[in-house]
Amino acid sequence: MRVPFDPTRQISKENLVKILEAARWAPTAHNMQNFDILVIDDKKVLERIGNIKSRVSETFIRENYQQLSFSEKELLRKKVGILGSNFPPEWRDPAKFDKAVCESMPRPLKERIRNSPILLIVFYDSTKRAPASEGDVLGFISLGCVMENLWLMAQSLGVSVHILSVFSEKTVEKELKRILKVPEHMKVAFAVRLGYPLSKQAKQLRVRRDIEMFVHHNRFGNNDLC
Ligand SMILES: Cc1cc2nc3c(=O)[nH]c(=O)nc-3n(C[C@H](O)[C@H](O)[C@H](O)COP(=O)(O)O)c2cc1C
Repeated sequence: MRVPFDPTRQISKENLVKILEAARWAPTAHNMQNFDILVIDDKKVLERIGNIKSRVSETFIRENYQQLSFSEKELLRKKVGILGSNFPPEWRDPAKFDKAVCESMPRPLKERIRNSPILLIVFYDSTKRAPASEGDVLGFISLGCVMENLWLMAQSLGVSVHILSVFSEKTVEKELKRILKVPEHMKVAFAVRLGYPLSKQAKQLRVRRDIEMFVHHNRFGNNDLC
């Protein structure tokens, strides 16, 4: 849910605990439980976080562009990625990327938090690495399991979820760690805003690859399941 949330409607303690309980039971590599979660519902702290500014990087604009479709027809054909219309026009034209980065103003996180009464920031504990996992890939997958578990529980309780990856951006992370007194070895994995939408989100086109496009039968390249 990318729409603003109702700032006056709190998530009940009971629902919050259920969401955290779901995160608690997420599977993690070697049962390392390589995460901590910071719950933020204090208005003053939310405001301080909301005032942190982030600026879009050229890398983001370039790599984001690779995932874009420029019409619903194109997205339905590709079955992967997102619609370009979700982003500013200058992010949709490679000739304007340099200008877009130069002219982009740092924007406060409050534009992303959009009145959410509560934020969860999920931290990756870099001291708990999955054994012999190159780049701690298994550790990162574990964080994905945490994300999915809390997402599904919130959804089942009728609480809307919006993942905010921008919280792990380097300059944002540095500020967050300073404001929230986060120990050095904890890295921001992602944040989640929870709440009840003020308005309905316009119906968004959702696409996925067909099963035959990513499932292989007995040998790679054989997509026939029969
Ligand atoms: C690791 C991860 C990071 C994501 N980060 C964001 C984000 O920062 N902002 C956002 O609006 N959605 C974010 N999403 C949601 C994806 O954009 C969304 O799942 C994808 O576009 C498919 O959309 P659909 O499930 O509605 O079809 C993230 C999802 C995952 C799994």
